[in-house]
Amino acid sequence: MSTGRHWTSLIVLVGTAALASCAQVEDPCKTKSRVVADDKYCDKYWECDNGQSIQYDCPNGLVFAGKHRGVTEGCDYPWRSNYCEYPKVQTNPPIGTEHCDWLYGIFGHETSCTRYWTCWNGTATEQLCIGGLLYNENAHSCDWPENVDGCQKHPLCNEDPNGNVPLGKSCNRYWQCQGGYPRLQRCPAMLVFDRRSLRCVVPPTEECDVPTTTAPPPEEDQQDLRQGQQQPQKRPGNDYQEQQGRQRPRN
Ligand SMILES: *[C@@H]1O[C@H](CO)[C@@H](O)[C@H](O)[C@H]1NC(C)=O
Repeated sequence: MSTGRHWTSLIVLVGTAALASCAQVEDPCKTKSRVVADDKYCDKYWECDNGQSIQYDCPNGLVFAGKHRGVTEGCDYPWRSNYCEYPKVQTNPPIGTEHCDWLYGIFGHETSCTRYWTCWNGTATEQLCIGGLLYNENAHSCDWPENVDGCQKHPLCNEDPNGNVPLGKSCNRYWQCQGGYPRLQRCPAMLVFDRRSLRCVVPPTEECDVPTTTAPPPEEDQQDLRQGQQQPQKRPGNDYQEQQGRQRPRN
């Protein structure tokens, strides 16, 4: 390979670097998608409008993901991918509303480990983790209790970390707490869960007759799950936050 060719490559490289440090990597009007990411700020992008390259901001809390990608047209939650890797940074400051650190995002609940907020343009909607799961702030989703820092134990198991807990009005299923972690269990065939002794027993009991041979429809199963989930909240003075002294840092 000749020395001359090396020099040409080097000049092209330096030229590209100079252009990049100026404003943006490429002119969106020269690309097929007509949209390009900003090279410094992951919450900004450039779009070709009537032959002009115009800079835009993603909705507050979101970062550029690419055309037709993300939760809005082109923008996504920053934690969903490596959109904001060094040296790129988010430059727009957070705009907070009640329960929302940013106008768009998914945020932990102030007083509950089983609930969280989804925020869309600053409007918060309360969400519930079902099936013995807790909200994991790192994963931004419901997760097994052992994976959730600061909320290791589930409120279902507050009374007895190794006891059984009725699941709503279910005659057949119940929660089994193992060291504070709830696991969904089903009584062996022909037995029913007894709410008094908290064990699977031979029916009938006060609440449960001899089980029928047909399984309940799946819809009813879901209903049972939700009832089981909400049950601890009905008991007064069972605020998980206060008992655990959980602190959620907020800025
Ligand atoms: C967001 O909310 C503001 C006012 O609360 C409203 O003016 C704006 O149009 C909304 N934006 C979107 C994209 O819905």
